[in-house]
Amino acid sequence: MSLSSGTQLGEAVLDRVTELASCSESPEHLTRRYLTPAYKDAAAKVKAWMEEAGMSAEIDAAGNVVGRYEGEQPGARALLIGSHIDTVRDAGWYDGNLGVIAAIECVGVLSRQGRRLPFAIEVFAFGNEEGSRFPTTLTGSRSVAGTFDPACLDAVDDEGVSVRDALVAFGGNPARAGDIGRSPEDVHAYVELHIEQGPVLEDRGLAVGTVTAINGASRFELRLSGMAGHAGTVPMALRRDALVGAALMISAIEEIGRGGDSVVATVGMIEALPGSINVVPGDVTFSLDVRAPDDGHRLAAVAAIKSRCRDIADQRGLELEIEQKHEASHSICSPWIMDQFDAAVARHDIKPFRLPSGAGHDAMSFSELCPIGMLFMRCGGGISHNPEENVTTEDTDVATRIFLDFIERFEPQD
Ligand code: HGY
Ligand code: MN
Ligand code: MN
Repeated sequence: MSLSSGTQLGEAVLDRVTELASCSESPEHLTRRYLTPAYKDAAAKVKAWMEEAGMSAEIDAAGNVVGRYEGEQPGARALLIGSHIDTVRDAGWYDGNLGVIAAIECVGVLSRQGRRLPFAIEVFAFGNEEGSRFPTTLTGSRSVAGTFDPACLDAVDDEGVSVRDALVAFGGNPARAGDIGRSPEDVHAYVELHIEQGPVLEDRGLAVGTVTAINGASRFELRLSGMAGHAGTVPMALRRDALVGAALMISAIEEIGRGGDSVVATVGMIEALPGSINVVPGDVTFSLDVRAPDDGHRLAAVAAIKSRCRDIADQRGLELEIEQKHEASHSICSPWIMDQFDAAVARHDIKPFRLPSGAGHDAMSFSELCPIGMLFMRCGGGISHNPEENVTTEDTDVATRIFLDFIERFEPQD
């Protein structure tokens, strides 16, 4: 493929994103949760594409797909490039998947030109970045980054299947998922191309932007228990209605989120039991996701939310359990990587622009192992985690070319 003109690179990326979207748990929409048969199909496709691009490829103990493209000297220190191929439910096609495929296409260009760089390149298609099947997240990237927490193997999905059992059924190796971490001396840096999932680049008329930092995140499960009762006979004043309690808490969460300093607070999942029209709900479980650029602001919002929820539980005669499911500090991108992304952007006649990431990414897992960096690409309306997620061929082409330019001219600082 000549890169001289046209949008062949962008077209090649989007053709494969489209093909990958057929690996779904549903024929109606894209849902591809970690270690499901749909995930396994996608992993097999990605592994084959990595091999076609001149990489040696395998599926590792944690269920990630890993491709390696040797440098001028075999065994050279590597630039790690990745993103994820698991999705949220009823997802867009581009979150995670586009970054994996763009990385494979970049290596394919080098391979077809017979070019080797002074460093190796390892490309990763991570599993469980979303945490959409199990109440744990970043499992795949943390196993590669060496920060895998074996406790996550006991997390169970809504059918009671544990990560451990799902990994065994998938063909992974839970006993080794914690042994595959890369050592700092084997790695130069980790970088990722990802759609912005927000409206800023579109608002500024820019196809790409350099990421400065990734917001920290806290995730919880809140479980309320009151008293189930007959909807027709229990007087309002005598009820211990867990769903009304949850509604008051959710409203308080939204108020605290709005009042925080760049804080976002979301309740995305809720279940009320027993779930009959004529029964006062006795038990409610709901999720909580709190984020902010500054860890102090996030933790202050979490503390305020916990306190308000406990007060509401007391006033309503409800028992309340708050279980933490995930915690990730904000991650700072390395200035020298940002500079090298900016230079690649400028070489493609786009004004370099820097922005933080409100969304979490696999890059967060690597911030303790090595320098990290991300390049964002515009997505239509900033829409994401929604089947309306969309990108243009032109943006995909220029973002992939810039990413390839960054790789070709990458200058490690270690
Ligand atoms: O939730 C997130 O920010 C990411 O999409 N998993
Ligand atoms: Mn993502
Ligand atoms: Mn996502």
